[in-house]
Amino acid sequence: MAGIYIHIPFCKTKCHYCDFYKSTDFASRPDFLTALHLEIASRKNEILGEEIESIYFGGGTPSVLKVAEISGIVERIASVYSVSPQAEITMECNPDDLTADYLGELKASPVNRLSIGTQSFNDRDLKSMNRRHNGKQAVNAVSEAQKAGFSNISIDLIYGLPQQTLEAWIDNVEQAIALNVQHISAYHLTYHEGTVFYDYLKNGKIKELPDELSFDQFKWLKSALEKAGFEHYEISNFACNGLYSKHNKAYWERKAYLGFGPSAHSFDLKTRRWNVSSLRNYLEAFEQRKPNWETEVLSQQDQYNDYVITSLRTQWGISDHYLLTNFEPRFEKHFKAEAQQFITSNHLVVEEGTYKLTTEGLFISDRIMEQLLFIEES
Ligand SMILES: C[S@@+](CC[C@H](N)C(=O)[O-])C[C@H]1O[C@@H](n2cnc3c(N)ncnc32)[C@H](O)[C@@H]1O
Ligand code: SF4
Repeated sequence: MAGIYIHIPFCKTKCHYCDFYKSTDFASRPDFLTALHLEIASRKNEILGEEIESIYFGGGTPSVLKVAEISGIVERIASVYSVSPQAEITMECNPDDLTADYLGELKASPVNRLSIGTQSFNDRDLKSMNRRHNGKQAVNAVSEAQKAGFSNISIDLIYGLPQQTLEAWIDNVEQAIALNVQHISAYHLTYHEGTVFYDYLKNGKIKELPDELSFDQFKWLKSALEKAGFEHYEISNFACNGLYSKHNKAYWERKAYLGFGPSAHSFDLKTRRWNVSSLRNYLEAFEQRKPNWETEVLSQQDQYNDYVITSLRTQWGISDHYLLTNFEPRFEKHFKAEAQQFITSNHLVVEEGTYKLTTEGLFISDRIMEQLLFIEES
């Protein structure tokens, strides 16, 4: 079982928080599509014999492509790899691209799951993030997708925004619940270097939300969604009726995946590979038949660290048995010694040999992971 990620590196405008690789120059779009098809065909010997269980179009903005272009990419993949008939095929979509006509065509394509970047239903929030849509368009995009017949829809929300009150966030979550979607991803705002928000923060133009307020937002989100029937299965992800993101769940379970397009990552259980994060260099490498990627073979320490980072994020947690059977004993010893302080402080619980984050732990998971990682002193 394996997954495929396709990075579509185009956005009509750039949002103030986002550091995903993207370009607003659409002139190279035809060359990009040619190179992408070539990349898919040229890597046919990777993950041989594995069935593809998920395909994920991320970006950038996949919904800037025509539906025929999306279908063409899926057909190319199916001509090279063995794609399961039940494969989950997700496409990230921006609300302003989702017209009834576009959605109608998309429903007739192989795409069977949508991840809609609503981010907020509050016009002030959306404007401050430099989104291209307003709250009404966010609601309409979801209801049009439902009318078109999509029954596996995820929406994205961002909280911890500068000046976002608890009341405004509660209103957002209530609107999200009322949409009757199957999946919600709610991310705490991260300030990435190189983004407009990062510069505003450095210049004092905006202030980070106090930790207590964003923790209140997180607690409210978790309890409201759980009351509404969602399962909190990963730090930022909630699903109804077991409709997890198959693709992302496979990342957290460290299954193999192939990533195509600029900045896309691949993993074959032993090696990590990342394509160059530049559309120009990606295209030049194809023209000159040169590699456009770098690779790293994972040491036992890297594999342990990956296991901690990915498993601790989920409700399935870290298994003592897995640590013992997959790594040298020093890793389990290190893990148990470091975990103890977080058990005492009620950030971690142990149930039948499985370590899981508590609500308090989920909120400061980055700090906890840092302590649990194994860094050899040089
Ligand atoms: C690849 S991005 C965007 C997909 C699509 N282009 C869109 O904007 O709707 C996936 C999601 O990551 C989240 N995200 C991106 N940057 C973030 C940041 N700095 N902090 C929190 N969430 C972020 C947003 O919710 C976004 O929808
Ligand atoms: S959030 Fe989406 S639309 Fe905005 S810049 Fe990032 S990838 Fe592009």
